[in-house]
Amino acid sequence: MKRMIFATGNAGKMKEIRMIMADTDYEVLSMKEAGVDIDIEENGSTYEENALIKARAVAAVTGDTVLADDSGLEIDYLNKEPGVQSARYMGEDTPYAIKNANLISRLEGVPDEQRTARFVCAIAAVLPDGRELTTRATIEGRIGYEEKGNHGFGYDPIFFVPEFGKTTAELTEEEKNQVSHRGKALELMKKELNRTT
Ligand code: IMP
Repeated sequence: MKRMIFATGNAGKMKEIRMIMADTDYEVLSMKEAGVDIDIEENGSTYEENALIKARAVAAVTGDTVLADDSGLEIDYLNKEPGVQSARYMGEDTPYAIKNANLISRLEGVPDEQRTARFVCAIAAVLPDGRELTTRATIEGRIGYEEKGNHGFGYDPIFFVPEFGKTTAELTEEEKNQVSHRGKALELMKKELNRTT
């Protein structure tokens, strides 16, 4: 089996990537499982740049295939804020209940059709021979008027998906993985890896 390291400390992301890579010949390890303990500064200006920064940093200390992701929420009415700054919007340690309430208040009086938003995810891979690949996917939705649902994380309770009539925090984990930006970008990366390795 080939080894793949996913450059994240997030247990939810590890579970998702393991589910998606289950039918490949990759054994997926977290950074911790691979014994990699480094601090990485995400100072890129695009999702792809940030994902590559993370993947390259881990690839520099292992000989395995390394994957990393970077994602965020783009709200059209707010000129695509919080965007690549999503995790750091209003401060990294600020509770999402406060960030979500703030975004809802910035959209006060804005009608449904102007509340469009999307989650974006870029996945980067650095291969053992140094080649680099990136994929990107999105899920389109609208910002709601109050938090709804308690699955998921982050901005999920305010991200309403019209096709489902629910927020992504009201979807089960399996439902969300099938349609989410991250799930779709990972599936695209799986195809790219199958094609190129
Ligand atoms: P990352 O882990 O550096 O990619 O951080 C992305 C940030 O974007 C997260 O901390 C959340 O604030 C937001 N985000 C990305 N994907 C999702 C999602 O699926 N649900 C809710 N928030 C998300």
